[in-house]
Amino acid sequence: MQEQALRSITMTMSSKITLRFLLLAFASSLLFSTGRVHGRAARPCRIDAIYQFGDSTSDTGNLIRIVGPNGFGAQAARLPYGETLGKPTGRFSDGRLIVDYFAMALGLPLVNPSLGKNLSFEHGVNFAVAGSTVLNSSFYAARNVTVPASDVPLRLQLNWFRSYLNSTCGSQDECGKNLKRSLVIVGEMGSNDFLYSFLQGKSIPEVMTYVPPLVEETITVTRELIKLGASKVVVFGDFAIGCSPIYLTSFKSNDSNAYDDEGCLKAYNAFSQFRNTNVQVALAKLRREFPHATILYGDYYNGYEYVLRRASYLGFDPKSALKACCGTGGSYNFNFTRMCGSTGITACPNPNEFISWDGVHLTQAAHRRITEYNINKIFPELSCAT
Ligand SMILES: *[C@@H]1O[C@H](CO)[C@@H](O)[C@H](O)[C@H]1NC(C)=O
Ligand SMILES: *[C@@H]1O[C@H](CO)[C@@H](O)[C@H](O)[C@H]1NC(C)=O
Ligand SMILES: *[C@@H]1O[C@H](CO)[C@@H](O)[C@H](O)[C@H]1NC(C)=O
Ligand SMILES: *[C@@H]1O[C@H](CO)[C@@H](O)[C@H](O)[C@H]1NC(C)=O
Ligand SMILES: *[C@@H]1O[C@H](CO)[C@@H](O)[C@H](O)[C@H]1NC(C)=O
Ligand SMILES: *[C@@H]1O[C@H](CO)[C@@H](O)[C@H](O)[C@H]1NC(C)=O
Repeated sequence: MQEQALRSITMTMSSKITLRFLLLAFASSLLFSTGRVHGRAARPCRIDAIYQFGDSTSDTGNLIRIVGPNGFGAQAARLPYGETLGKPTGRFSDGRLIVDYFAMALGLPLVNPSLGKNLSFEHGVNFAVAGSTVLNSSFYAARNVTVPASDVPLRLQLNWFRSYLNSTCGSQDECGKNLKRSLVIVGEMGSNDFLYSFLQGKSIPEVMTYVPPLVEETITVTRELIKLGASKVVVFGDFAIGCSPIYLTSFKSNDSNAYDDEGCLKAYNAFSQFRNTNVQVALAKLRREFPHATILYGDYYNGYEYVLRRASYLGFDPKSALKACCGTGGSYNFNFTRMCGSTGITACPNPNEFISWDGVHLTQAAHRRITEYNINKIFPELSCAT
């Protein structure tokens, strides 16, 4: 019954999107006939699968299949998680994620989690596992930082992908051919590396020293993916972590200079920008290494800023821009000891008006807008209509 509801919601949404594309196509044919064409004509987009690597930003149901009903992150298997979708799926949001909107915008079905039994992988596989880090637990153990046992670091997700390829295509050549018409999305991943470190008392200057090895590892895995045949890759950076309720609550400051105009923690946003600059520099080098691959940067940071700065215009409640929809207490409706998913903690009546869902993850409405911001830049590079 619930599955049926989910399917019908998905279908309604995708037919709406199709309708939008048709209207756009109609509008551009009108422009064409009056000769007022600008920009290049969009060619059909040859993408029929998405392979996703990452953490809770993109996990569509892997972690809940690892940890069982009481483990770390199991709350995503229960309402109010998934309430906008009509049922909890393991997504850490009220509804869809950025990867879901990418799939919808490409006219593909939502991408199933790799650990799902009996699910179709015809249009790609999602290897993302919530709570996972880019660097492995030995890296963090050496620095006295603990990561959850369910961690599936990026390198391990790559191995899952290799096994998947081994089981689905006969030769490296054949696998490579299949991958040519796919979009590979790496990240966002890395925000847990930083969050675990900061929460366990590491300073910003110390965590900055983790950034170069983390970016190097991201690039190493991306290079492997390209060698396996991926030719269209999007690597996401981090969003403005200093605007999230978990950071605002954990690292609040007496000093008003610690906050920017939006009320976000400047030092943590600067940290995100430092990391993102490193990612972009590394991607520029990777493009020179693989001139025939399309290697793009997914701009989570500016996508998020776009939502935050235009909150009211985009239909969000500007007074709640830094508050969690699902949570309780404090200035940001967030309390570690009573997080969303704990007994007695309820969600706001209208998650569409909130940017943050649970203080750590964003709402479906925010994901949709951040995707829009990104596909407007990314799809033209992939020759997909936007
Ligand atoms: C998986 O699908 C097969 C064939 O459709 C079916 O026989 C089997 O019962 C399914 N298993 C589960 C766990 O749903
Ligand atoms: C963890 O990563 C380090 C490099 O940071 C590597 O040397 C080590 O072999 C990895 N350990 C495991 C268990 O994968
Ligand atoms: C980790 O903790 C142990 C025990 O408290 C301490 O001896 C060691 O110096 C710490 N190492 C680092 C890298 O902080
Ligand atoms: C995939 O197959 C290749 C060639 O047979 C083998 O070298 C490789 O170890 C396999 N990888 C995995 C992850 O199974
Ligand atoms: C904030 O200011 C109060 C009063 O001056 C002081 O007691 C407290 O320790 C300060 N907190 C922080 C986090 O600096
Ligand atoms: C979080 O909740 C606990 C228990 O209700 C309370 O003692 C604590 O003060 C709260 N913390 C914040 C930051 O509001």
